[in-house]
Parts: sequence; C-alpha cells; structure tokens
Amino acid sequence: MPCKSSEELNELVLEAKKYTKYGKVADYIPELKKAHPHDLSVAIYHPNGTCRSAGDIQQKITLQSISKVLTLALALIDCGEESVFRKVGYEPTGDPFNSIIKLEIMNPTKPLNPMINAGALAVTHMIKGKNIEDRLNRILSFVQELTNNPNVTYSQEVAKSEFETAHLNRSLCYYMKQYGVINEDVEELMDLYTKQCAIEMDCLDLARIGIVFAMDGVEPITNKRIIPVDVARICKTFMVTCGMYNASGEFAVRVGIPAKSGVSGGIMGAVPNRFGIGIFGPALDDKGNSIAGLKLLEMMSIKYALSMF
Ligand code: DON
Repeated sequence: MPCKSSEELNELVLEAKKYTKYGKVADYIPELKKAHPHDLSVAIYHPNGTCRSAGDIQQKITLQSISKVLTLALALIDCGEESVFRKVGYEPTGDPFNSIIKLEIMNPTKPLNPMINAGALAVTHMIKGKNIEDRLNRILSFVQELTNNPNVTYSQEVAKSEFETAHLNRSLCYYMKQYGVINEDVEELMDLYTKQCAIEMDCLDLARIGIVFAMDGVEPITNKRIIPVDVARICKTFMVTCGMYNASGEFAVRVGIPAKSGVSGGIMGAVPNRFGIGIFGPALDDKGNSIAGLKLLEMMSIKYALSMF
C-alpha cells in the first residue's frame, strides 16, 4: 500500500525543519558526510496498514545504531535472555554511545547495555551462523521480514567507509576480547558489525519495523508473529531507557515512546498498539541524535498524545 502524503504532518515537518540549522551531519564515518543537513522526512505506519508521510520518504538511510535493537532481538531469539545478559548489562550509562570508560570501571568487565557500541558489538558477537556471511544473511533476512521488503540490503560504500575508520570500535572489541566478553576475530566481528550498521532502507521500511515492535512482535497486516512477545518487550524497554543514549531521560519526558536513533539521522519509534514511526533528519545534536527528528517527535507527541507515561 502506498504511503499518502499528509498535510498535517507536512506542517509539523516544516516547523521542525527550522531546527536543522543547529545540527551537524555525522562526519566520523566519512560516507555519512554526504547527507544533506536540511532534509527531514517522516512516515507513520498504522496497524490497519495505512501510512501517512511528509518529506522525501524515498530517500534511503542506513540504520547505524537503530540496527542494535534488531540484533538484540535476534541474539535473544538465538541465545535466550540469560546468555545474552551474562555478557551485557541492563543499565543506562549516561555516557556517549562510543565511550570506553565504563568498560574499565565495571568489574567484571561487561558493557552496561546493548544500545551503546560496546554492548552492541558484544550482541552481534552472539548472533549465530556458520561464518560471517551466514550471520550477515540471517540479520538481513530478519530485517527483510520485519520490513516486509525482500529488497532490503546494506550499503557497501557506507560499510567500507566505517570499516576503514572504526578505530574506536576496534579498541572496544580488543578491550572486551582481553576480558573474555568476546572471543572471535576482531576484524571479522567489525566486518559483520559495520555491514549491519550499513543496512539501508527508507522511512516507510523504518516505520514498518516500528509497528512490529508497537504490536509486541506481530506484523499487523499478515498477523504473523516475527518476534516473541518477551523479546519485543525487552527491546522496547531498552529503547525507552537507552534508545537516545545520554539523552534518553529527557526524551522520555518530552516524547515518552520507545524509540531508537542512529548517527545517519534515522529514528525508529514504536507507539504501543498505535503507530510505527520512521524519521530521517541527518543533522545531529551533540549527542548524536537527529536534532529536527527529536523536535518533530516532540511536536507529534503533543499533537497526538503519544506519551506512554
Ligand atoms: O558504531 C558506530 O559508531 C556507528 N555505526 C553507529 C553509531 C550510532 O548510530 C550512534 N547513534 N546515534
């Protein structure tokens, strides 16, 4: 079903767009510098299959950290809650997403949660498969099922660009390898992780993922359960407590929905039983979240009474 442009959403997008000038596109992954800072688009997917949008929703974005929710779901399906949380904690950090500091402070060494880079790398390490290719294909098939779009794949340019420059993520891996959190070859894990982060889609696909989480793991049109209910619940909880990193508390107050951001400027939101939301706005604030995307969600939360709290 096509996504219809909405006048009401268009007005909110125009208003939120004014904030793009206060943000900056990510530049530590060179390929992401190509994004246009003033872009902003949104798609909302309803449980009955209708979709409303504003802005250029054809544009493709890479998932970046949004992929962390999806690999967490897959690792929980693969290994179970107990095994996953033996390696990764449950707690928010209050630190930037790529910080190494808590790894050293925690005794025994354990990333604090699956949404920060260290935790996400440990989670990707747990995805099962014969080899890297097989594990990547499993992640891709899962995302294709969530989006109901068999064409979803990853951007080779963005994956390569991050792989060649991800020195900080490599150091997180080596630190964790030293302390037994991971035990695979770091270059192989980086290869898989950077491809997972480079999975590409448009806002509608992102909104479709959101609706599956909003409906506790069930795709509402086909009525197919894609994610076990407990796994969906755990993922949504982390989206609330850690989805916006060290801005998650303020986001919970101002917007009040489970959501996850990525440095590409994407935000995936899941309003329980009501909407899946996909946003793209590549200008970021100083914490790595889409500056206009946050503003847009804040306005949507007021207008449509979205807060769960
Ligand atoms: O690992 C990284 O740094 C990126 N691939 C993803 C980080 C990210 O998206 C943080 N989000 N706001």
